[in-house]
Amino acid sequence: MNLERPGARRTLWTNATLATLAEGEHAPGGNADWGLVERGAMVVEGEQLRWVGPAAELPDALRADVVEEHDLDGALITPGLIDCHTHLVYGGERSAEFELRLQGATYEEIARAGGGIRSTVAATRLAGEHELHVLAVQRARALMAEGLTTLEVKSGYGLSLAAEAKCLRVARKLGELGLTVRTTYLGAHALPPEFEGRQDEYVDAVCAWLPELKRQGLVDAVDAFCERIAFTPAQTRRVFEAARALGLPVKLHAEQLSDQGGAALAAEFNALSCDHLEWLSESGIAAMKQAGTVAVLLPGAFYFLRETKLPPIQALRDAGVPIALATDHNPGSSPGLSLLLMLNMACTFFRMTPQEALRGMTVNAARALGLHDRGRLVAGQRADFCLWDAAHPRELAYWFGRNPLRQTVVGGVRRMDR
Ligand code: NIG
Ligand code: FE
Repeated sequence: MNLERPGARRTLWTNATLATLAEGEHAPGGNADWGLVERGAMVVEGEQLRWVGPAAELPDALRADVVEEHDLDGALITPGLIDCHTHLVYGGERSAEFELRLQGATYEEIARAGGGIRSTVAATRLAGEHELHVLAVQRARALMAEGLTTLEVKSGYGLSLAAEAKCLRVARKLGELGLTVRTTYLGAHALPPEFEGRQDEYVDAVCAWLPELKRQGLVDAVDAFCERIAFTPAQTRRVFEAARALGLPVKLHAEQLSDQGGAALAAEFNALSCDHLEWLSESGIAAMKQAGTVAVLLPGAFYFLRETKLPPIQALRDAGVPIALATDHNPGSSPGLSLLLMLNMACTFFRMTPQEALRGMTVNAARALGLHDRGRLVAGQRADFCLWDAAHPRELAYWFGRNPLRQTVVGGVRRMDR
């Protein structure tokens, strides 16, 4: 085998503890499964990891042609963090609804009264593309300050062809910050006021806009909100059929407030992920397992809506469904911008282990986006990684309100964002 790839710049990174997460995607807890490497080294070639292991075992042949050596000064290295579920592009804010909910109103009641998602749609339609971009950059930078390297952004606050396209363009542009951005079309998020009483016609429109948005290169996946206050399973199925006709993968906001059978429906379409899942049933779990669908849990929304019904974590574990974690950043149910706080809350609320939490924001989050080239520190994966001021990776889920990030490396290049 010819190991030489002429032209790819080779760099060597030494003097670090590596948490490679190399041993499978949903290994149960236990120290061995962090894939810890003390006194570790990594060789990066171009944008990829070429070799990862104990420095003492680095082959001489790989040392040759190293153009730059980086001393990591004892840092802990993990794969770059991946936020696989956000609604990052929107105008306005909803703190008044927060007050209403503290006085006893429910999220569902506020939505039915015309607030909720619809109020953000009004603000987002009014906002110019530049204004939305400035706001989205601020939010993305907050996530990047805690090690974000790959970001998913959903539309769903435009709800017209022009406004959805505007939001998806803003999302795409965030890639300029030194991130991988995946965009998801969530036209079926809520019913816009101009379609009042004409829900099925709106679903027709959502499906009809999709080819054009895809043609403009704005859609990597298609999502829907299948819920009493949003779209029925039959309507969701129509959106999924439109996605399938264009070869686009699907995801679903499923069983957040009630069990609609959304997870099983999504699994029928080989969904990349089902997200939220507080009301997920046994049959939903079985269908997800069968389809290889990732369960994306969102502790920020669970916390902020003061939910009491936990997603069925142990049943997901028992079934071997990969679990991912995300911020679900949005102005209504999860206005948080801290990846590390999500790791912490996944442990305290959901009783996930710190290792499950970190896998949830790396390798399993990648899988929820259909990305198989990242999420672990192993040869052949992208050289996206974080340098932390920590002795052990469980510390990432342990501190809250303290950010131990030293630096982020993206595609083998140090990112200058701190
Ligand atoms: O993921 N559940 C639907 N969508 C968002 C909330 C959107 C909003 O309230 O603006 C969520 O929780
Ligand atoms: Fe969401």
